[in-house]
Amino acid sequence: MWPYPKIVAHRGGGTLAPENTIAGLRAGLAYGFRAVEFDVMLSQDGIGVVMHDPDFGRTIYGDGHVSNHTAAELARMDAGRWMAPEFRGEPVPLFLEWVDYCKEHRIWMNIEIKPVEGQEEETGRWVAHTARARFAAEVAAGAQAQLPLLSSFSMAALAAARDAAPDLPRACLFDKVPTDWERIARELGAVAIHTNHKHLTPALAAAIKQAGFGLFCYTVNTPERAREILPWGVDGFCTDRIDLIGPDFA
Ligand code: G3P
Ligand code: MG
Repeated sequence: MWPYPKIVAHRGGGTLAPENTIAGLRAGLAYGFRAVEFDVMLSQDGIGVVMHDPDFGRTIYGDGHVSNHTAAELARMDAGRWMAPEFRGEPVPLFLEWVDYCKEHRIWMNIEIKPVEGQEEETGRWVAHTARARFAAEVAAGAQAQLPLLSSFSMAALAAARDAAPDLPRACLFDKVPTDWERIARELGAVAIHTNHKHLTPALAAAIKQAGFGLFCYTVNTPERAREILPWGVDGFCTDRIDLIGPDFA
């Protein structure tokens, strides 16, 4: 039901490094993490880049929009200096560069498909197809626990991912789980429900587990809250506080 790691570093290295940068992956490794959640959207030329916001202004200085720039342009932008001078020059990672780093360091991936508005299907298709090609050997070997888990708030993106790479696992990502979650998850062939821990109740957790799905929460940043929800049947969660909640947290 959940062959994946229990504790996952959010957006690379949580709050210890600029989000969605290779510096974040290095921070995660330094704290013993070999599991990461990150966000992927498409550049103007249809290439996956690791980014959370479609608009510049927060992690990339200035005005602009990811979908108005090529991947080569984005890869030259500074995604680190907003956080601290020491991270100056950290580039926007290309999806494939990120995947290769994770494979090299044996970091498990929860790939959040984060489409720019209007590009839901294209993004889901591109991410699934590209990830599937990189994990052909693992798929052939039936190494389920090593496959990346594709999640998205966009059910259209997940449907496109399912059609492009049916044998990569998928998870429905909800802020608040809707009442018809089980129908949606079954239609998409999802293996897990990912949800905001703030809206989770013990009864909902039990229903999801009883129906045979994995249950993963975002973003749990205190050990107290982690200890509260894990007994509800939560299989795993991502955290920004990799310094407070370690990979072997129990
Ligand atoms: O995938 C879980 C979590 O990352 C979803 O929210 O906005 O942090 O990408 P967000
Ligand atoms: Mg995310």
